[in-house]
Amino acid sequence: MSKPHILLARAVFPEVVDKLRAVAEVQTNPDDTVWTSAELIERLRGKQGVFTTGGDRIDAAVLRACPELRICANMAVGYNNFDIPAMTAAGVVATNAPDVLTETTADLGFALLMATARRLAESEHYLRAGLWTKWGYDMFAGSDVHGATLGILGMGRIGQAIARRGALGFGMQVIYHNRSRLGPDLEAQLSARYVSKAELLEQADHLILVLPYTAESHHAIGQAELSRMKPTATLINIARGGIVDDAALARALKERTIAAAGLDVFEEEPRVHPGLLEVPNVVLTPHIGSASLPTRKAMAHLAADNLVAFFTGQSLLTPLNPDPRTR
Ligand code: GLV
Repeated sequence: MSKPHILLARAVFPEVVDKLRAVAEVQTNPDDTVWTSAELIERLRGKQGVFTTGGDRIDAAVLRACPELRICANMAVGYNNFDIPAMTAAGVVATNAPDVLTETTADLGFALLMATARRLAESEHYLRAGLWTKWGYDMFAGSDVHGATLGILGMGRIGQAIARRGALGFGMQVIYHNRSRLGPDLEAQLSARYVSKAELLEQADHLILVLPYTAESHHAIGQAELSRMKPTATLINIARGGIVDDAALARALKERTIAAAGLDVFEEEPRVHPGLLEVPNVVLTPHIGSASLPTRKAMAHLAADNLVAFFTGQSLLTPLNPDPRTR
């Protein structure tokens, strides 16, 4: 039987390419060019599988133009770049890369929280600029992380890993809001208390966003929500751009409606709202939540393993929709 054809939409570890080459004809993207939808379609025509990252959109137009496509494997846990109903209707399998990045992403959430609360980026820039000539009693005085109230919006796997860090490592009071409340045993294990979204906004000293991006979570944090937060509060977004209204946040930071923010994701990334670049009280990182080398390798291998499983007749590891092969 002839080998299936797989497209790698972005560059990836060479060992992952080799793994795919063992079962398929593979077209790579060695220059790591970010293709437009039309460029992606052009390369995807006639291929049965695609390896995507979170920025590569697979929607109804792509599916219509590429009727031979059978599986899309995302090297990301979030899959808002996939139109899952359209893929299911077209009999195309979708997979993501959950679990392997949970702890690494929670680490970055905490790193951003610490950096934001303790004004790390701002003070480092000050030092590098040669402005540090003397110690001052309130120089870069920020807010405490230990013992503070940690609010978590979205309490899936990563939210829970952050709750553990906060409660066990930093003696924080953990409150959370989620579409569905956790069971009492898990709440007790995490020392986390369920509250309404309004209570979360009003009570959190540090609010961290860890919910998926959907039509419902679009601008879940906008001007109205920011104005309910404490003026001393920090906001951390490690989830997805679009959950926060970046223009409203830039205004709130400028007017000090809230104290500071730490952002790993942006509405139009890699473009960052100019208002965010102008204010000192925000720590900005380029979507590196899962970026430890072992975790990025594990994510890439998981995406590749789903493709290998599909084309060798095995069960998928992390499917997001029904597998037409089993119907
Ligand atoms: C990263 O943002 C992911 O969804 O894995």
